[in-house]
Amino acid sequence: MYATPETPSRPNSQVHIELAERSYPIAIGGALIQASESFANLPKASQVLIVSNTTVAPLYAEQLKTALLQHYPKVHVLELPDGEVFKTWETLNLIFDVLLQNECDRKTVLFALGGGVVGDMTGFAAASYMRGVPFVQVPTTLLAQVDSSVGGKTAINHPLGKNMVGAFYQPLRVVCDLDTLKTLPARELSAGLAEVIKYGPIADMAFLDWIELHISDLMAGDSDALAKAIQRSCEIKAEVVGQDERESGLRAILNFGHTFGHAIESGMGYGKWLHGEAVGCGMVMAAELSQRLGLIEPGFVQRLKHLIQKAGLPVAGPILSATDNAGRYLELMRVDKKTEAGELRFVLIDGPGRAVVRSAPDVLVRQVIEVCCI
Ligand code: NAD
Ligand code: GLY
Repeated sequence: MYATPETPSRPNSQVHIELAERSYPIAIGGALIQASESFANLPKASQVLIVSNTTVAPLYAEQLKTALLQHYPKVHVLELPDGEVFKTWETLNLIFDVLLQNECDRKTVLFALGGGVVGDMTGFAAASYMRGVPFVQVPTTLLAQVDSSVGGKTAINHPLGKNMVGAFYQPLRVVCDLDTLKTLPARELSAGLAEVIKYGPIADMAFLDWIELHISDLMAGDSDALAKAIQRSCEIKAEVVGQDERESGLRAILNFGHTFGHAIESGMGYGKWLHGEAVGCGMVMAAELSQRLGLIEPGFVQRLKHLIQKAGLPVAGPILSATDNAGRYLELMRVDKKTEAGELRFVLIDGPGRAVVRSAPDVLVRQVIEVCCI
């Protein structure tokens, strides 16, 4: 468990995902993208592909390409359009187009350079191109460094539901270069903090204490604070994924705030609210539901809400329907991977630092939506 809020930060660290033959390291540190050693000892291939987007590629693709040319004779770069709205079949096909046009074989290694959207799509392309080619995650957003690049969930969106089409497919390695966070817009940094905060109430109250103490440093982009937050987030995620890789139970706790959050994202139209913003607000709603079920005290909901607000995130949900807002949320939330036989299930806080997945009466869920939306 987490040591103390005062433990000094440890940049240049590694966390391990233990999954037998699919185990891999997460490297965390500065200047890792341009270091050829970051990519040593990967499988040999005659060509590899960097998948990025129109925002991230101009910033970092050349550095990564130079580092990879120390190991591979040919390195292609693909720039996808940028945005959650492009996390689709059509964009996925652009990856397959480049792989096929260049006659890439099944040894080709894919490198996902970007945030969670690029990472999820590149992972899915790697899982399915020629029934599976190796891939490496090089996450460049805080959200991707603390969550989406780790654990092997890959997906694209469907107009009817978020991340509804995808595969579990682990990367060979994750390389988190802290320097990339220096170019990240403040709104995106806040969105990433939502997924950092998430780990506290579900697994580690000492980490929540530490985040509260250091929220200003994190918001200011302080590298030591970010390194520490990324390391502890990855450690918690590694512990959970190591026990339940394919989410047959425990792993669902990592979706705290996501049932309400996904409804906000798809109900507003993908990209209007950032994923982390929707998750931040969704955590407030899920905490409120936990309290109404008698699982936690009102003070805990207020504490979490205050922190989420301090992280620059919205804490009130949007109105998704002028006529039946709660009904619309419920309709959208039913398209959720945790739904069983039509029954909605939520990740709830079952006491500080403990999460549980369970159903809740519609009447309570409606009350929560009514008090939490403006
Ligand atoms: P994102 O990938 O859209 O990136 C956010 C924005 O920041 C984009 O415009 C991107 O181009 C830009 N950007 C990225 N790195 C940058 C940098 N270093 N400097 C400047 N700009 C940069 O969004 P995200 O928040 O990283 O990821 C959200 C996605 O991740 C969602 O689709 C969500 O469903 C998915 N996700 C997946 C998992 C998983 O386990 N696979 C977990 C959480 C979230
Ligand atoms: N982001 C939730 C998970 O990886 O399970």
